[in-house]
Amino acid sequence: RKPVTVPGLRAMKNEGRKIVMLTAYDASFATCADMAGVDVVLVGDSLGMVVQGHASTLPVTLDQAVYHSTLVSRGLSKALLVADLPFMADRDPAFALEAARRLMAEGGAAMVKLEGAGHICGVIEALVERNVPVCAHLGLTPQSVHRLGGYRVQGREEAVAEQILADAHAVAAAGAQLLVLEAVPAALAARITEELDIPTIGIGAGADTDGQVLVVYDMLGITPGKRPKFSKDFLAGRGSVVEAMAAYAADVREGSFPAAEHQY
Ligand code: KIV
Ligand code: NA
Repeated sequence: RKPVTVPGLRAMKNEGRKIVMLTAYDASFATCADMAGVDVVLVGDSLGMVVQGHASTLPVTLDQAVYHSTLVSRGLSKALLVADLPFMADRDPAFALEAARRLMAEGGAAMVKLEGAGHICGVIEALVERNVPVCAHLGLTPQSVHRLGGYRVQGREEAVAEQILADAHAVAAAGAQLLVLEAVPAALAARITEELDIPTIGIGAGADTDGQVLVVYDMLGITPGKRPKFSKDFLAGRGSVVEAMAAYAADVREGSFPAAEHQY
């Protein structure tokens, strides 16, 4: 297996090979994901919820994101490392550039992810111009939880769906090279995937995206409380974390995950 690269992601889309992505927050889980053949490991700001115990991703600081990226990067040999820009690290291009510098130079990330479109497109352009590969994130954007009023599917209404579609074209035009679609109707995600040249990664977005991402604790069944509709416990009935991750990767690659029950 060769190391996964940013241009390699586009090649995977063109060749119809699904991209398997998983979050990690430390070296041990990162090593497991790498051993299981996961393509992309995300140091998500879900860190704030699943590791730190907050009710949202907003409290995660840049220092914490950088710290966890350094831990995860030590566990990876083949998988591509993507790191989330924390809440408000995209407040202006200059701040986002410095945040990206730290996540890449100190944290070992190869790509940074940021949520939204609109003014964010200018931030994406500034990053891309400075050779920072960017993953965009649309649909349910958890940093907007207070505007959205909760964690729920986005784009069921025609007008919202049209906005998400337009935003997807806008972030791709701004230079994003990967796009996460979270909690959107499967038909909308399929349409975006069809219309864009860049790969899409779904979470609660149906099976027709170019890849899938899950929060690692969700797919190991260790997130307390109700399992999110779009997730699945891959550790159930299996003997190890690596086996569970490998099963997730296999199911994504053969198209059996997500199933109809995991989508909107
Ligand atoms: O923070 C995170 O874990 C994420 C994924 C759910 C895409 O952004
Ligand atoms: Na995130």
